[in-house]
Amino acid sequence: MATFRRMMRTFLRGHWIALSLSLLLAVTTTALGLAVPWFIRGAVDKALVGGRTDLLVVYAAAILAVAALRMAAAFGRRVVSGRVSLAVETEMRDRLFSHLTTLGFDFYMRSQTGQLMSRAIADVRAVRMFLAYGLVFLITHTITLLSVTAILFFLQPRLAAVSLIPMPFILVTARAFSRRLHPSLWAVQQRIAELTAVAEERITGIRVIKAFAIEDQQQATFALASDQIYRQNLEAAGIRSRYIPLIGVMPSLSLIIILLYGGRMVVAGDLTLGSLIAFNAYVMLLIWPMRMLGMLVSWAERAIAAGERVLEVLDERPTVTDRSTAADLSRLRGAIEFRNVTFAHDDVPVINGISLRIESGETVALVGPTGCGKTTLAHLIPRFYDPTTGGVLVDGIDLRDTTLASLRSQIGLVDQDPFLFSLSVRDNIRYGQPDASEDAVAAAAAAAAADDFIRALPAGYDTVIGERGVTLSGGQRQRLALARALLIDPRILILDDATSSVDAETEARIVDALSGLRGSRTTVIVAHRPSTVMLADRVVLLEAGSIRQVGTPREVPWQEILVADAEVGLQGQLAAAHRAAAEQDARRAVTARLAAGDTGATP
Ligand SMILES: Nc1ncnc2c1ncn2[C@@H]1O[C@H](COP(=O)(O)OP(=O)(O)OP(=O)(O)O)[C@@H](O)[C@H]1O
Ligand SMILES: [Mg+2]
Repeated sequence: MATFRRMMRTFLRGHWIALSLSLLLAVTTTALGLAVPWFIRGAVDKALVGGRTDLLVVYAAAILAVAALRMAAAFGRRVVSGRVSLAVETEMRDRLFSHLTTLGFDFYMRSQTGQLMSRAIADVRAVRMFLAYGLVFLITHTITLLSVTAILFFLQPRLAAVSLIPMPFILVTARAFSRRLHPSLWAVQQRIAELTAVAEERITGIRVIKAFAIEDQQQATFALASDQIYRQNLEAAGIRSRYIPLIGVMPSLSLIIILLYGGRMVVAGDLTLGSLIAFNAYVMLLIWPMRMLGMLVSWAERAIAAGERVLEVLDERPTVTDRSTAADLSRLRGAIEFRNVTFAHDDVPVINGISLRIESGETVALVGPTGCGKTTLAHLIPRFYDPTTGGVLVDGIDLRDTTLASLRSQIGLVDQDPFLFSLSVRDNIRYGQPDASEDAVAAAAAAAAADDFIRALPAGYDTVIGERGVTLSGGQRQRLALARALLIDPRILILDDATSSVDAETEARIVDALSGLRGSRTTVIVAHRPSTVMLADRVVLLEAGSIRQVGTPREVPWQEILVADAEVGLQGQLAAAHRAAAEQDARRAVTARLAAGDTGATP
């Protein structure tokens, strides 16, 4: 209930007037509906039985007027609640998204993308449907229920008491029905989501599937997932086929009672014929609200569960935020200092007490075996995480005393696996500075040795990349990401293995361009190539989250790390695979020769 109240407060803020109006119109529609059987009662008793046929027209006109008013009220309610509902949904989704953008990397590492998507779409939808429609129905159906019961007791208390007996069973059965059905429907949704994920991954990974020639096996996996959906749907259909007819037949019990018991009353003169007919009509009016109230309980439960999931995301507090006392950084000189920094990912220590000063304008290469913490250390500079202990300073100011925007707008970062958006090449390059001029974009591209290949693309800088556009090679992607980082003319440039997929010649051009551009810019390079290491003023050799040695490229024995890395890396594996394949070939040749010898067939 607390969640529910909080949901109403959080999501319905600013919509109370519209919601009240929608409720008012709904109640009006309901109340008008209640008038019709009353008119029929009058028509039967006064006009037909009483013999005043002239009154028939009056009753007919009254019913017509009520019908017209109901139509107007129902129209108004739909317009109003439709608007509220859509506005609530849009607001919730926008709020969720804008909140998501404030959350840090730790949150995204903990969460699954699919989960977040389903919260943003399905849960938001469930909440808005209930808040905007379910609530109104809950109230109007309750009003109908109470007022119809009152009218029935007014018309004939004994008949009311008896004929209403089957009604609660409709409510209970409807509740049981929706209790069974919803888990089943939810499971269907879940299976469909899984199938979609399977299909998406298989389509994205089609190269791997074809390369290993495992299409049949993949087809079987898919068919299995597909079959599960079929079964789950079949189960839901089974539940429907059992409950819906049952619920449908229950009102007949009331009708039988009214006919038998009420009929006798009419004959005995305890009830007018008109009242009997009206009675019947009122009982009919109860059926739908009874069914709906039974279902609304589950509906509410689901909406609350969905609302909880949405609120859970909204309750996430970003771990890295601007302090209230944080000040904007002015243009940086670019000196960086790690002061006794330790850092742990989920309590697993990754950086173990690093102290390091990087001077303004200096180029520093971070070298070390894979997994030693190079990327993590580099990510502390734009404050993607805060250190567990110690501090990171730029120009002598602790990062936690600066505003994130003023810090990050002066740092250019090219990630190990750069992400590009499904936009044109130009828009990707100027992603960090959308108003950059054509010349600035071209200059950044040239500095990243990307200008040539971009001009050779089908539509040059207007070529769209990504799913709906051209596919770029790994090296091309890296160069675009580099151009994107260079465009903002950062004071600190961080290149995390940013040229690993670029050929040596192109890398040399990038290196040239970078050293020309570098000027007083501070550059931190995570390096795997000798040429890149040689570019650095100093090399920081890392080992398991600590600094092993710092010095000029000539002083630090970085070669042994890079060579060792290559051994355990791809090249090493390839060499091992070659050796294994050669051995196998040799064995096969021997076996074949022996087999041939055994049959006595000499080649
Ligand atoms: N998000 C994370 N959650 C938990 N552990 C992590 C996370 N990111 C990295 N690690 C761990 O932290 C350690 C350092 O990772 P990091 O990415 O900094 O290594 P690296 O030196 O950049 O390696 P590489 O050369 O392969 O890029 C690794 O042991 C890694 O498994
Ligand atoms: Mg790394």
